[in-house]
Amino acid sequence: MITVKAPGKLYIAGEYAVVEHGFPAIIVALNQFVTATISPSDTFGSIVSEQYQENSIFWRRQGDAMVFDNRDNPFHYILAAISLTENYAHEAGRNLGVYHLGINSDLDSADGKKYGLGSSAAVTVATVKALCQFYELPMDKPKLFKLAAIAHLSVQGNGSLGDIAASVYGGWIAYHSFDRDWLNRQREKSTLTELLGMDWPDLKIDLLTPPRDLRLMIGWTGSPASTSHLVDKVALVKAKQRGEYQTFLQDSKACLKRMIAGFQAGDLATIQTELRQNRALLQTLGEFSHVTIETPILEKMIAIAEAAGAAAKTSGAGGGDCGIVLIDRSINPQQLLKDWASEGIERLNLNVHTVADNPVA
Ligand code: PMV
Ligand code: MG
Repeated sequence: MITVKAPGKLYIAGEYAVVEHGFPAIIVALNQFVTATISPSDTFGSIVSEQYQENSIFWRRQGDAMVFDNRDNPFHYILAAISLTENYAHEAGRNLGVYHLGINSDLDSADGKKYGLGSSAAVTVATVKALCQFYELPMDKPKLFKLAAIAHLSVQGNGSLGDIAASVYGGWIAYHSFDRDWLNRQREKSTLTELLGMDWPDLKIDLLTPPRDLRLMIGWTGSPASTSHLVDKVALVKAKQRGEYQTFLQDSKACLKRMIAGFQAGDLATIQTELRQNRALLQTLGEFSHVTIETPILEKMIAIAEAAGAAAKTSGAGGGDCGIVLIDRSINPQQLLKDWASEGIERLNLNVHTVADNPVA
């Protein structure tokens, strides 16, 4: 039996801007995984997942048609990952087989609570990884990223794919998103094998080393948010508020550049300053796009962390899910945790997944 795992993630900074190609974000992989297992079968195949099933669907009416929105259902990412990896295996001359695929996740809690730790990306990466082993396809991190990114894009369509990069590379990364229009055009004229061998315009993934005194803390709001719907909403203002949107993009890029330099210099104070700056930029984006990124509970979470001497902001698309705190290890977080608890904010006691734990094969 083949068993592989892929970690979940949290965005640290650069959200929304990173959806535009060439713009950066900082993302961290967490020690919380989706596990995929495959065993060959002689008769029928199966896909079994306790957490991810096709048990309810969302749709809109478009004239006479029912249009399904599968973007928030990890089960569809499993199907897309299978389809893409089997195409790739076929191109490599493999005979396609029959198998039982099992998917287990600890990214959502046992009672079905959704934390927003990137289950759709991790499930995609884990499925692609498992099938590449099953079909004995040589893989490295850049190829795994590309194959999983194409699969994820075929379902969600509007993301930066930074969560896929975090799940493939592990640790802390600086991610610059690739040009998805280029990829869509290229897909029509190239095989997957060719695509995986190409340089993708603007794509850049660099590993970052956090300073020793940096402690990452995660607060959970208790309410789930839909990244794909929030990104849709922000995309709507792009044309209408061009000037403000372009300013946001440029400011975010400059902020992230300084924050990345802070990581390279091992300077926690700079990283914290830029984290606060990135929060302010996202607040401005939230205001002019009329999208609630920082909900009242996230605002409270951040205020409590700031009062303890830490820097904090929303993580990812916001609207619920988690907030992140970067705090000096020498600060005792007891009071912060007590204040969070009294506001109903739960600390997720998760560690960073290190690169060394994340071999591809
Ligand atoms: O809410 P999350 O953790 O899935 O993060 C979304 C981050 C965005 O930049 C808003 C979207 C994206 O795909 O990068
Ligand atoms: Mg989220």
